[in-house]
Amino acid sequence: MNLMKHQIPGPKSAEILANSARFEPPCMADQVPAVWDHAEDVWIYDVDGNKYLDFTSGVLVANVGHSHPDHVAAIRQQAGRLMNCYSFPTPERVRLSERLVGMLPENLDRVFMLTTGAEATEAAIRIAKRFSGKHEVLAFYGAFHGRTYGPMSVAGSANTRRKFGPSVPGGILAPYGYCYRCVYDKKFPECEFHCIKALDRVVEAASSGDLGTVITEPYQGGAGFINPPPGWLKELERWAKERGLLLIVDEVQSGFGRTGKFLAIEWEEVMPQMVCIGKGIGSGMPASALAGESRIFDCMKPGEMSSTTGGNPLASAAALAVIDIMEKEHLPENARVMGAYLLQRLGELKDRYECIGDARGMGLALGLEIVESKQTKKPAVAMTQKIILGAAQYGLMMGKVGFYGNVIRVAPPLTIKQPECDHAIAILDKVLSEI
Ligand SMILES: Cc1ncc(COP(=O)(O)O)c(C=O)c1O
Repeated sequence: MNLMKHQIPGPKSAEILANSARFEPPCMADQVPAVWDHAEDVWIYDVDGNKYLDFTSGVLVANVGHSHPDHVAAIRQQAGRLMNCYSFPTPERVRLSERLVGMLPENLDRVFMLTTGAEATEAAIRIAKRFSGKHEVLAFYGAFHGRTYGPMSVAGSANTRRKFGPSVPGGILAPYGYCYRCVYDKKFPECEFHCIKALDRVVEAASSGDLGTVITEPYQGGAGFINPPPGWLKELERWAKERGLLLIVDEVQSGFGRTGKFLAIEWEEVMPQMVCIGKGIGSGMPASALAGESRIFDCMKPGEMSSTTGGNPLASAAALAVIDIMEKEHLPENARVMGAYLLQRLGELKDRYECIGDARGMGLALGLEIVESKQTKKPAVAMTQKIILGAAQYGLMMGKVGFYGNVIRVAPPLTIKQPECDHAIAILDKVLSEI
């Protein structure tokens, strides 16, 4: 395959990056050094005119593709009418809540619109504490629920919490269903969900007797697209229910069709008491939602929850357009089909290249774990970076995640087609063979 190599950063990108380094904090600079100018469906164009296939979706946001005409039209139209009115109801927000409730498991009959993912998980934790009257929350190694203090206190990676002082008390952590690196050194299915059974032991050791809630992601995105084994979430639901605990599922990343269903919990018919939704709901317009059971939300009295821009008519109109597009273009189904195809092609690469330790995921939330060798599984962080930069030079934009920073994110918009998947695999193949 003949591929032109982009110069990264190009001169215009370099100039903007220099200004970014001058005026923005360095903690924001952890991406391929190319400055995006505009994007269309699955393609990104940088300020130097380089074109990339987008395998980031802008961190799993652009589910309906970049600047989808129907999405843009809805935003344009609403922007000219009414953009914000605080918590006064609007036809758009109420219509959106109604649409969402119609798509959720039947126990989730109320929706509270917010602006960011962290705001949704923060709200879920607050409400769970009020409703249960208990302050402890069980979460998992590797968990990422956002960067405000509530979610940070149940983060399962030191990277999220390092040197920020004491967290909110009550966060308890237990090993997640990460079979590739099982902390119990067990094998699924022979382990019979040992990590779930061991939760009692964790709670016995760490709880003051005030555990009321469990929070989890259906798969851990930030930790490196770690998918627990099939049935794990259902087992967790059963474990929580038997102990009278509330279950919050954080679908900020996994929701809105990403795994091949509207919500990932649908794969195992799990019915949590609250679900956090974000990213893809706005597909670029800042929006998030907390869905829950009315009996739980009723513990909050009028005036006890608010969000200045949460559910504003602009965000609500955008989210309504996203739902329409998702339904009209069958995007969850496309995510399922294209995701299975991509995973198979990534699996072929894994078989051929020693540095790919694992290729995994569901729908279009896939990850490649890069290791020094298949046998040692030692995370190869520098190699991960090299592959990402090499791929970008050939026009494939990806990002790095993972507990150890050695997982390549493979998460294109849900509108991707097979030839584009083939194009990406050809680039990856070329870069891997060169490296
Ligand atoms: C599972 C999960 N929860 C919460 C968040 C936080 O979302 P936001 O960055 O919109 O606050 C993220 C962001 O990556 C996430 O992946």
